[in-house]
Amino acid sequence: MNVGVLVSGQGTNLQALLDAEARGELAPATIAVVISSKPGVPALERATKAGRPAEAIDHKRFGSRELFEARLLEVLAAHQVEAIVLAGFMRLLSPHFVAQFPARIINTHPSLLPAFPGADAAAQAIAHGVKVSGVTIHFVDDSLDNGPIIAQAAVPVLPGDDARALHARIQLEEHRLLPRVVQSLAAGQLSCQGRTVMGGRAE
Ligand code: GAR
Repeated sequence: MNVGVLVSGQGTNLQALLDAEARGELAPATIAVVISSKPGVPALERATKAGRPAEAIDHKRFGSRELFEARLLEVLAAHQVEAIVLAGFMRLLSPHFVAQFPARIINTHPSLLPAFPGADAAAQAIAHGVKVSGVTIHFVDDSLDNGPIIAQAAVPVLPGDDARALHARIQLEEHRLLPRVVQSLAAGQLSCQGRTVMGGRAE
């Protein structure tokens, strides 16, 4: 299954996927293309270094979300992408876009959703004083960090943590969990009825 990875920044989750693929742990998924909504980000360098097609589609250069997404769809189609991973992709996708890939778009988010959606989830967790946070991998719908939950892993918040320290601890789990979910999706082991996901996991 050809997978497109959409990114906007560092690309450490992309790296986890590339590393898993190199170890033979992602099959039958193949990372076919990496697209960034921002030019010049480290994620694009990681993709190029791994020999993958990588393209920036700068959302700021398009007059509307429709035009931005039309270009995204064009590039995804050119690489025969069947499933999409949002790996730190910081744009909300429209209902039209999401409908092109039913139960074939997943997102990773650094909190135990539905707690702390949106940006700066680790900072939100610290500000709220929670003792446990974590990572959520979910199917994407057209609202922010919503959609049926596929997998979650809990991560403790330790005394003295700031947002950066907590996010780094969450990312260790995220980098472990995301490739497993992508592999399961590509292997046809995940399905979804309403908000209920079959074949998901809690760790
Ligand atoms: C990841 O931790 C991801 O969960 C988060 O952005 C980070 C990107 O890191 N996504 C969100 O907050 C989505 N709401 P990366 O570029 O190093 O993979």
